[in-house]
Amino acid sequence: MQQLIFATNNSHKLKEVAAKIEGKIKLYSLDDIGCYDDIAETGATFHENASIKSHFVHNKYKLNCFGDDSGLEVDALNGEPGVYSARYSGKPGDHTGNINKVLKKLGDTTNRKARFRTVISLIWDNKEHFFEGVIEGTIRHEPSGTKGFGYDPIFQPDGYTSTFAELSLEEKNNISHRAEAIEKLLAFLATV
Ligand code: IMP
Repeated sequence: MQQLIFATNNSHKLKEVAAKIEGKIKLYSLDDIGCYDDIAETGATFHENASIKSHFVHNKYKLNCFGDDSGLEVDALNGEPGVYSARYSGKPGDHTGNINKVLKKLGDTTNRKARFRTVISLIWDNKEHFFEGVIEGTIRHEPSGTKGFGYDPIFQPDGYTSTFAELSLEEKNNISHRAEAIEKLLAFLATV
């Protein structure tokens, strides 16, 4: 079985990705390989940040690996929080603070259109490949649901009446931005 490092320690992301590639690829996290470095996300785009993560791990361990960067883009906020999704409120990983900031900035705005985007940078046999996934939706006026992570409680995917945080892992994994990017990565790996 092919082996691949996922340059993350985000347990939610790991769970989502592991569910997608189980039985096809043996996946290792940064914890699994004993990598405890703080990889600074200093890029201005999802592509740059995904690339920083994959190159850091590849340069250090010389293993096939991928990094991802993802976030929420809200049309009425000119694409914010974008690459700042994880630290929008100022405190990294403060999901409640991030959600409150989006809701406050949006106020009663009627244009609630938004999307999640994931970009994956895979380094396979010393070459970099990008894969992207997008899910369109709208921002609710109030959070709802307890599953998932991040902005899931305020994001309602188009065609659904539930937020991401009200869907099961399996339901989210059928349609999410990350799932789409991972499916493209798997399709690529099936050809090498
Ligand atoms: P990253 O770990 O640098 O990719 O930052 C991603 C941030 O974007 C997370 O901390 C979340 O705030 C947000 N995000 C990305 N994907 C999702 C998702 O599937 N659901 C909810 N929030 C997400």
